[in-house]
Amino acid sequence: MTQGAKVRTEIRFVLNGRQMRLSDVGADDTLLDFLRIDQRLTGTKEGCAEGDCGACTVMVGRLTPEGLRYEVVNACIRFLASLDGCHVVTIEYLGGPNGRLSPVQQAMVDHHGSQCGFCTPGIVMSLYALWMEHERPSVPQVEVALQGNLCRCTGYAPIIRAAQAVTEYGTTTAEHLTMERDTVTTMLQAVRDGARVEVAKEGNRAILPADVDDLAVVLEAEPNATIVAGSTDVGLWVTKFLKRISPAVFVGHLEGLKSLEVQQDAITFGGGVTYTEAQDVIAQYYPHLSDYWDRIAGWQVRNMGTIGGNIANGSPIGDTPPVLIALGASITLRKGDVRRVLPLEDFFVAYGKQDRADGEFVESITVPRIRDGHHAAYKISKRREEDISSVAVGMAVQVDAGVISEAVLAFGGMAATPKRAAAAEAAMIGQPWSEATLLAAAAKLPDDFQPLDDMRASAAYRMTVAQNLFQRFWLEQSRAEAQLMAEGL
Ligand SMILES: Cc1cc2nc3c(=O)[nH]c(=O)nc-3n(C[C@H](O)[C@H](O)[C@H](O)COP(=O)(O)OP(=O)(O)OC[C@H]3O[C@@H](n4cnc5c(N)ncnc54)[C@H](O)[C@@H]3O)c2cc1C
Ligand code: FES
Ligand code: FES
Repeated sequence: MTQGAKVRTEIRFVLNGRQMRLSDVGADDTLLDFLRIDQRLTGTKEGCAEGDCGACTVMVGRLTPEGLRYEVVNACIRFLASLDGCHVVTIEYLGGPNGRLSPVQQAMVDHHGSQCGFCTPGIVMSLYALWMEHERPSVPQVEVALQGNLCRCTGYAPIIRAAQAVTEYGTTTAEHLTMERDTVTTMLQAVRDGARVEVAKEGNRAILPADVDDLAVVLEAEPNATIVAGSTDVGLWVTKFLKRISPAVFVGHLEGLKSLEVQQDAITFGGGVTYTEAQDVIAQYYPHLSDYWDRIAGWQVRNMGTIGGNIANGSPIGDTPPVLIALGASITLRKGDVRRVLPLEDFFVAYGKQDRADGEFVESITVPRIRDGHHAAYKISKRREEDISSVAVGMAVQVDAGVISEAVLAFGGMAATPKRAAAAEAAMIGQPWSEATLLAAAAKLPDDFQPLDDMRASAAYRMTVAQNLFQRFWLEQSRAEAQLMAEGL
């Protein structure tokens, strides 16, 4: 713990404008159970309990260097302990006095956006958060906001019409959530006492370190603790596999893991940067990843899930490792005061085994800035959104005077770990930049991989689609080159 920091034995947060203090909190208590069972706020629904359906969507406000920021999250996989210092807003808080509906709710009623109603509170929360950001959202913006909200009966057309009509029913400035921003900010600032927080229920312990140095200290003392960042993987260990995660060390609140440093040659992402927090930097500096990024999970999960968690989880089908390996990323691991840097591709040792010692954590990820060359990222999944990849690929190719000088092709879903296609890469280097070269490289792919065979995709499908992506890469890149030449650029 940093010099002089204290230990607090209760979490403090604001729920629908009310100050809360709780000490009897276990590491795996979910926000959804707290809302529905303890607080009887049953407007928030439980559908899947795994972050997929969005019925449990609530908004969480937290203080950032830019001010109070609200985001939608899935209450079913968000742990209660992680809410220290936050404002939780549920569907019950959106309306006004005497049962007046909020503009979003009224628009949903008038545009017939609800039938059985089970998904409706979650959809209203997502549309409310969208309205706060865009008073007149476009259809694509509404679609992105609803990526994580499944409706089985209404059909999305009336919901989208409602989303676009909200502003006819009121202004965001007149909403009490807007008018009370200063009050809530003051309440949340008052909670910030620089303390480490330790709470427990029946020996089930949650620790929130005071800062990143304190995290290093806590993990040295508790090397086998479960690190919890956005809990979009760990949440399911609890709700689906009934796994015990105590002692759990929460890191999602640590500003020191949220830095985003744009340097001359590289960009360094703190280990706790969420997909949403990285989005603008990705769009600006790695534009070929922009669409890919929007296809990772849905809005709620992107607001919670971190790049560090995606890497540390070590899944062979995580979306960031292949594209970051293709860009030449490295990670910094820290244990106590000792840091080591290793190429990201070396972190993945075998299925379920990463090069990470007990008590070590991912402090940051450094990604080289893009030079010239050909870059692409592809995600193949059954659904366009809110789905895990069958195959994910990052491709980076440098060409000098028509000859390929460097090729990095990194795949997910093709082996037990995210992995480079060494034989396919070798088949490209020194060869002309041409369709024939790419097809020859694709033909080498069976030398590199024996793909996974599971309910997402068969091994044969994975191999075929991965090989076909070489042709897609060629077609897209050569068309883009032709376009640039036609424009005289
Ligand atoms: C509905 C849904 C859809 C999803 N869709 C996708 C998808 O499209 N693509 C995809 O790749 N993933 C997807 N995921 C998985 C998940 O969202 C990602 O893997 C996410 O990046 C995990 O980050 P997190 O912060 O939530 O990690 P957590 O769940 O908090 O942790 C994951 C693992 O990383 C460890 N960990 C976390 N932070 C650190 C750290 N700093 N140092 C060391 N260890 C750490 C934890 O101990 C744990 O082992 C989805 C999940 C859900 C629920
Ligand atoms: S209950 Fe389905 S996402 Fe939470
Ligand atoms: S209204 Fe029934 S699930 Fe959406």
